[in-house]
Amino acid sequence: MSEKLELLREKRRVIEMAGGQKRIDKQHEAGKLTARERMNLFFDEGTFVELDAFVKHRCTNFGMEKVEAPAEGVITGYGKVDGRLVYAFAQDFTVVGGSLGEMHAKKIVKVLDLAIKMGAPVVGINDSGGARIQEAVDALAGYGEIFYKNTIASGVVPQISAIMGPCAGGAVYSPALTDFIFMVDKTSQMFITGPQVIKTVTGEEVSAEDLGGAMTHNSVSGVAHFVSANDEECIMNIRKLLSYLPSNNMEMAPVFEADDVNRIEESLNDMVPSDPNKPYDMKKIITGLVDSGDFFEVQPYYAQNMVVGFARINGQSVGIIANQPMVMAGCLDINASDKAARFIRTCDCFNVPVISIVDVPGFLPGTGQELGGIIRHGAKMLYAYSEATVPKVTLITRKAYGGSYLAMCSKDLGADMVYAWPTAEIAVMGPQGAANIIFRNDIKNAENPQETRAQKIKEYTDEFATPYKAAERGFVDDVIEPAHSIIRLAEALDMLLSKREQRPPKKHGNIPL
Ligand code: HXC
Repeated sequence: MSEKLELLREKRRVIEMAGGQKRIDKQHEAGKLTARERMNLFFDEGTFVELDAFVKHRCTNFGMEKVEAPAEGVITGYGKVDGRLVYAFAQDFTVVGGSLGEMHAKKIVKVLDLAIKMGAPVVGINDSGGARIQEAVDALAGYGEIFYKNTIASGVVPQISAIMGPCAGGAVYSPALTDFIFMVDKTSQMFITGPQVIKTVTGEEVSAEDLGGAMTHNSVSGVAHFVSANDEECIMNIRKLLSYLPSNNMEMAPVFEADDVNRIEESLNDMVPSDPNKPYDMKKIITGLVDSGDFFEVQPYYAQNMVVGFARINGQSVGIIANQPMVMAGCLDINASDKAARFIRTCDCFNVPVISIVDVPGFLPGTGQELGGIIRHGAKMLYAYSEATVPKVTLITRKAYGGSYLAMCSKDLGADMVYAWPTAEIAVMGPQGAANIIFRNDIKNAENPQETRAQKIKEYTDEFATPYKAAERGFVDDVIEPAHSIIRLAEALDMLLSKREQRPPKKHGNIPL
């Protein structure tokens, strides 16, 4: 027995040494943690249970038969995050560059299968040179299996990807199929074709960072949702994100200790400037409404005219979708529509109620938007809101005009409760544009067209740029004092806890993509 135990211990020692001290040092010098360090940091202390540490590759091409690849270049297993079961895998760059072959893929697929079966989130940490070149089509098949499982798991359990090193070629599509992508600044890159291939094919010269670094994907492409300064911060943010989500689509997110929801927040009365054309920071309203002022923003650097993220009201997790008057006056454009629609669907699949905070003058005009397909992209928001069956509460703080009023979850798109502040302006269009059209003749034939125009704008503003026309028809359930918003939102969410909404059976809808 002692010999067998010694053999087991020796095998474990070899596995734990991963790609060897030199490669581990290189990993650390690059400012990265090793796969095992990442897993230990991610899970509650002492809870990580490793699976498949002894798995080996079966490749005999190009000398691979002599290559020892401890744990097959990927650490997999499960553990607890804030006491809840979570599955995870972390690719080990010190072992054959974390490259993915047949058996490496099987380890990941096993974890995905377990996560689906047990109804627990799965977190994938990517740090890999991509398909293991020596394994040829076996490696490609491995990716295919993972993509398939990611898709099956989509909407069943939360899937979170962290990019903590290279993630190149088709390998990027596993993270892209998951719900959220975290990237670490300066040490992670994602691209389909790298700078060298681009140079060869198109002649363009671009650095890896500009092409696929964390800020590129967080601010320009919208591929990623979060950027962190280092591995440690990234791992803590993943843990935080999980706290807003249920373990699976059959459960509710954990409920936390709440702030006093009966509080009257006087500062909210002064948030909207008296001049309707003056911008203000929507994030101040959000932090004023939610528990502890804690707003966990998703995609904070992308399409900043739209603000989305998680928070809690009365201890209950909510998804917030809000226009940002500080950026492009809060207009809806292609990127903002994509960002909001995706977030609404994420909330809906995981039973997180959505709160829409509206100050939107319209869709952004221009050929860029029209030719870019704003019709198709804007439709995603209408679709996502209409399709969502979670509790939907809308709060209109100021402008809510035309199609964008509908696209921000009006009553007609199934909002369960719509509140408006007295500063709300709900109409087909703003007073200036409306006066030019409906009073065109009055203005043209007037003795003093300028004066008549100003007078007509005032008439329209008094009559229509208010919440009361909408409230008269029941499109707004109540006009509330801003200071009372926390109480009103909390009671609406409480009332909506038992919401059940049935839809006609179908295979799946056909959201415009
Ligand atoms: C096998 C690989 C590998 C790969 C890296 N290695 N990538 N082995 N297959 N794909 C090995 C290296 O040989 C090296 O082994 C070790 O990992 C570390 O790699 P280095 O090159 O020394 O590291 P670094 O200088 O940091 O460069 C990292 C890198 C580079 C930028 C990722 O390795 C690289 O360009 N790799 C190839 C990337 C690629 O084109 N992959 C295929 C993408 S296409 P030793 O023994 O020296 O330590 C793809 C298709 C997926 O993935 C399709 C899905 C549908």
